[in-house]
Amino acid sequence: SNPSLLILPGDGIGQEVMAEVRRVIDWFGAKRDMQFDVSEDLVGGAAYDKHGVPLHDDTMAKAQEVDAVLLGAVGGPAYDDLDFSVKPERGLLRLRKEMDLFANLRPAQCFDALSDFSSLKKELVAGLDIMIVRELTSGVYFGEPRGIHMEDNMRVGINTQRYTEAEIERGARAAFEMAMKRDKKLCSMEKANVMESGILWRDVVTEVHADYPEVELSHMYADNGAMQLVRAPKQFDVIYTDNLFGDILSDCAAMLTGSLGMLPSASLGAPMENGRPKAMYEPVHGSAPDIMGQGKANPIACILSFAMALRYSFDEGADATRLEAAIEKVLADGVRTGDLLSDENSTAVSTSGMTDAILEALDAS
Ligand code: NAI
Ligand code: MG
Repeated sequence: SNPSLLILPGDGIGQEVMAEVRRVIDWFGAKRDMQFDVSEDLVGGAAYDKHGVPLHDDTMAKAQEVDAVLLGAVGGPAYDDLDFSVKPERGLLRLRKEMDLFANLRPAQCFDALSDFSSLKKELVAGLDIMIVRELTSGVYFGEPRGIHMEDNMRVGINTQRYTEAEIERGARAAFEMAMKRDKKLCSMEKANVMESGILWRDVVTEVHADYPEVELSHMYADNGAMQLVRAPKQFDVIYTDNLFGDILSDCAAMLTGSLGMLPSASLGAPMENGRPKAMYEPVHGSAPDIMGQGKANPIACILSFAMALRYSFDEGADATRLEAAIEKVLADGVRTGDLLSDENSTAVSTSGMTDAILEALDAS
């Protein structure tokens, strides 16, 4: 049977960019005979409006069954005053938690035509293509004990960095699998010099390496890693790191590439019966209420998220590359949505205009 895809556009520009992704999916169906069983459902504010909850149980059940979930964005001013328990982002958190998506993938890919947008010199980032795998469900954001206590008449804030070897191992496997589909180079980052969890991290990653002898593994202290990311980012292919360091390092790497409208992401869980990992793909940006409904949203982050699904869920790496190359071509030709223009005198294309250009480039590829 065909691979299955659940599309959850969500709110604001999430709906606008997802409509463009559907055109790309249709292109692959018509021109590459790649058929998906696509279903669509509500999440976030859109689900709240219809069901009174940001994610209906039926939608949750569907997400558990499909080969991949593609999500747009959730939230918006209309929902800002809702009770915490039904806020749009709770829908997103429920998906991540119940699918147990423990590996968060954030690529930092720099298209040559946009290298002026980088915070770094052009030559340092041109052609950059790295992938940060961040452990997402454990570590210091979850460890116990935690809280603010009184000690000797003074307030003390406490969080605990805690990792089991099983948690480190499953993330490491996701990172090694990733490396196998890319340049077979993995750098693991921790602070084994000052943290026991870092010593364990380094041990476990080294043990898992025995199952992936083709991958070249290196270890780096995370502070040095931050420095190396801005000094010479092209030395990296895949980086595996914990929840806290990954939060910081992935934001840092994002700025190497420029606009929020360009950044895709994925969150992976355990392999399902068919061998595919549980997976959810989504752009990094939010619902952008300031530009919604105006045809201004850049659809590329969401289209690149679909390219990640092709590569990491459906083993269609060649077609993922083909889609990325079409985007590269369009950018090199100077096609720009508003977020990619620094010169106010140049003209922007609309959301659908950008997709038109990408589909044309795909046709020509
Ligand atoms: P945002 O990412 O929605 O927007 C930040 C800025 O970037 C805005 O000026 C926006 O116009 C621009 N921008 C974002 N994506 C763009 C795109 N594809 N094309 C062109 N310009 C783009 O973040 P903000 O404004 O902090 O949050 C707005 C709403 O989105 C809030 O309700 C927030 O909670 C929600 N949000 C949802 C996320 C998610 O669903 N994963 C992530 C971040 C925020
Ligand atoms: Mg962050």
